[in-house]
Amino acid sequence: MNDIETEADVALFVERFYARVRQDDELGHIFDDVAHVNWPEHLPRITAFWSTMLLNSGTYAGNPMRAHLDLALKTPLRPEHFDHWLLLFSQTLTDTFSGPRTDEARQRAHGIAAVIQSRLYSTGLLAVDAA
Ligand code: HEM
Repeated sequence: MNDIETEADVALFVERFYARVRQDDELGHIFDDVAHVNWPEHLPRITAFWSTMLLNSGTYAGNPMRAHLDLALKTPLRPEHFDHWLLLFSQTLTDTFSGPRTDEARQRAHGIAAVIQSRLYSTGLLAVDAA
């Protein structure tokens, strides 16, 4: 199996990942029924994001934190959602690619998920059940 090398590789895993997300019982409704994601716009933006992260393409300009803060105002986001998102992301990569850049994608996603969750938590927007 090859590593992620080109923009087309990034576009392929992004497409496969969101196909999985949309069919997923825990996450699909958040994207389609809560955020009403416009997929023909979202997929190229996410491809630009990951090609900027992994291939230094510099094609992404955006604010992922804002997107998730806005989303958390519309629906409760829980740590389990993030864990599940990361699981689907990692599985999609494993099915499609292998190598250092693929590992980097996994690590970056975990890091960004942690940053988003800590920000949501500190603004009282992460839905954590009281112990
Ligand atoms: C619970 C897990 C997550 C959910 C439910 C979620 C959902 C969403 C939604 C609904 C949007 C807005 C899409 C749109 O309106 O076009 C979005 C944007 C985005 N998400 Fe997530 N997301 C999650 C986790 C993550 C993680 C861990 C990353 C890490 C890389 C990430 C990266 C992004 C990026 C880069 C954008 C685009 C922001 C922009 O430029 O508009 N998401 N996400």
